[in-house]
Amino acid sequence: MNITHRPQRVRKSKAMRSLVRQTSLQASSLILPVFVKEGIDTPKEIKGMKGVFQHSLASFAIELEIIKKSGIGAVMIFAIPLLRDELGTEAINPNGILNQAVALAKSVAGGDLVIVADLCLDEFTSHGHCGLLDGQGRIDNDRTLEIYQVMAVQLAKSGADILGTSGMMDGQVGAVRSALDLAGFTDTSILAYAAKFASALYGPFRNAVDSALQGDRKSYQEDPANMKDAMREIELDVAEGADIIMVKPGLLYFDVLHAASQFVNLPLATYIVSGEMAMVEYAAENGAIDRRSTIMEIALSAKRAGAQIICTYWALEIAHWLKEEATK
Ligand code: PBG
Repeated sequence: MNITHRPQRVRKSKAMRSLVRQTSLQASSLILPVFVKEGIDTPKEIKGMKGVFQHSLASFAIELEIIKKSGIGAVMIFAIPLLRDELGTEAINPNGILNQAVALAKSVAGGDLVIVADLCLDEFTSHGHCGLLDGQGRIDNDRTLEIYQVMAVQLAKSGADILGTSGMMDGQVGAVRSALDLAGFTDTSILAYAAKFASALYGPFRNAVDSALQGDRKSYQEDPANMKDAMREIELDVAEGADIIMVKPGLLYFDVLHAASQFVNLPLATYIVSGEMAMVEYAAENGAIDRRSTIMEIALSAKRAGAQIICTYWALEIAHWLKEEATK
């Protein structure tokens, strides 16, 4: 055959494949989400999230020792309080479980890891929404921002390096930025969940935080049908002072991630969410796919799609596998 172009030439050996590889994974760009629950003594595995636990403060301290040796870049802390009310009061308690967990992480691992705190009210409200509700049961966006501002300053004081604004309130990045700056926390970064969709794939996470949510979040999270809405939210968050832009969920929204990578001049992150993890875990458990190679392919694909940072429950395992591959 007279074939001039043979793409297979550069795939013939492992060395050749390595030479021409365009995307690679590093442990340092992984963020591990962690859950710390008030009032428990022993860690509890989360339904639908194999290998992921609700930690007590004590077990979290032990886990942090492992995490900081793993080479991953950051932990992202979610906390589950004992008390919930309409206003999410525990979220702004300086000695509340979230602030305690952040302070602990900072003191145990602050030298090795970037400490990210989730800045949202859904774990703290009795109704499970990410913001306060008005008299008609609708989201009260602007009152919520006032609470986010207080929460932001306290989390910064507790030692958070980055605040993950995941509540999808309008104006949240600007409100949090100005509160931080006013309080002197000009170096605390904002990871803006700019494009967060009202996804069906958050199911297991709701178990992870013992969510009280009835109904859905469609009035504040984005419609999975809308690319332009996502692009607009990203533009707004960039303009409001975001430091890192997040697209969430991951897999189903790699098109959004890639579109963002074409115009956003900030680091981009994506979050392989709990339901996406579950799809892989259940398929692997039933022998349909190979777990390890699927996870590595997903992480690599997130990079190829445009993410610098990947938020994943598999962060420690990926870091371990990367080390193994490097020493092969
Ligand atoms: C809410 C929040 C959610 C997740 C992270 N932060 C759930 C939601 O928006 O309903 C989901 C993460 C996951 O599914 O892994 N602030």
